[in-house]
Amino acid sequence: MRLNLVTILSALAPLAAASPLGSLGLASWDVEGFAKDNPIGATTGGKGGSTVTVDNAADLQAAAAVDGPKIIRVKGEITLPARLKISPNKSIIGVGSSAHITGKGLDVVDSTNVIIRNLKISFIEDNDCITIRNSTRVWVDHNEFTSDITKGPDFYDGQVDIIRGSDWVTVSWNYFHDHWKSSLIGNDPSFRDIDSNHLHVTYHHNYWRNMGTRGPAGRFGHQHIYNNLYVDFLYQAIHSRSDNQVLVEGNVFRGKTREALSSYGLVIPDDSPNTCTCGDEELDGYANLGARNDWGKATVNITQVGTFKKAPYKFKLTPLLLVEPVVKLGAGIGKI
Ligand SMILES: *[C@@H]1O[C@H](CO)[C@@H](O)[C@H](O)[C@H]1NC(C)=O
Ligand SMILES: *[C@@H]1O[C@H](CO)[C@@H](O)[C@H](O)[C@H]1NC(C)=O
Ligand SMILES: *[C@@H]1O[C@H](CO)[C@@H](O)[C@H](O)[C@H]1NC(C)=O
Repeated sequence: MRLNLVTILSALAPLAAASPLGSLGLASWDVEGFAKDNPIGATTGGKGGSTVTVDNAADLQAAAAVDGPKIIRVKGEITLPARLKISPNKSIIGVGSSAHITGKGLDVVDSTNVIIRNLKISFIEDNDCITIRNSTRVWVDHNEFTSDITKGPDFYDGQVDIIRGSDWVTVSWNYFHDHWKSSLIGNDPSFRDIDSNHLHVTYHHNYWRNMGTRGPAGRFGHQHIYNNLYVDFLYQAIHSRSDNQVLVEGNVFRGKTREALSSYGLVIPDDSPNTCTCGDEELDGYANLGARNDWGKATVNITQVGTFKKAPYKFKLTPLLLVEPVVKLGAGIGKI
């Protein structure tokens, strides 16, 4: 059964761009989850603004800084000499399958209503690929993030970190690979007052392959994590700690993935503990299970179940058997 479905979907691969999987009814191709359904309005990015195409760092920096809505198309490879600060009401969208950011990463800081799609972001120095800080309504979709996992947890930083009271974010259809620390939500156990009641994030149809930790790791927030594919996630994939709540459903874990989901408070030594090489002890988080997951050979350690039992919005759940082929087909750049 599964082989047949894989074969059929693979045959459809060339059609993926022209005929998105969304139109096959298997998954949503448009913004879905907390970036769409939230109390302050759907994320629309630069909609309604003019479109500009940029192929160098100076033009990109200038376009991302203007007031008012703007759609910024990024062409080819750009090495950023400084972090790209993205002001409110912007869409940053890669052209074709070769838009590539390297050097410094992207900052969505004190901002709102930002869309980042179809960009490869690789080997970012000294900081995250994307930091979303004190910002609301952000959609990170169909990007590719990569570096070199052999450098360990601290040579490169996070891929998509969501911190300091940020809220209403969706991270969808991204391809995260060959990197240690993927996505951190809440970056310090002492920021309870800033972060509590915020950090609502939806993760769906992301493909994680050959990763270390944080797929994602959350503190103080709520994350709905569905239909993601994890292959060789080496240490700790979904980790909920410091009173964080996750709702985990319809995900697939494969290969050498060690721990699919846990809610104990220990930040393992293989992550990036702050105070002791033996790991940091925090309060436990909470985890709830919705639709069935396929854990493969990975372990699950839920120490407390919470109150986040159902997504507060409508969403399209891909049938579990189809998650692996659909995510492999749809995630990453050159697909939209
Ligand atoms: C963003 O756009 C909305 C509506 O289009 C507008 O009301 C708002 O003021 C804009 N935000 C900023 C900070 O420019
Ligand atoms: C958060 O961002 C808002 C703008 O959206 C700003 O007014 C506020 O000062 C920022 N807060 C902090 C703590 O930086
Ligand atoms: C789950 O984690 C807790 C806290 O670290 C530990 O005491 C317990 O033995 C673990 N359970 C399993 C089944 O691994």
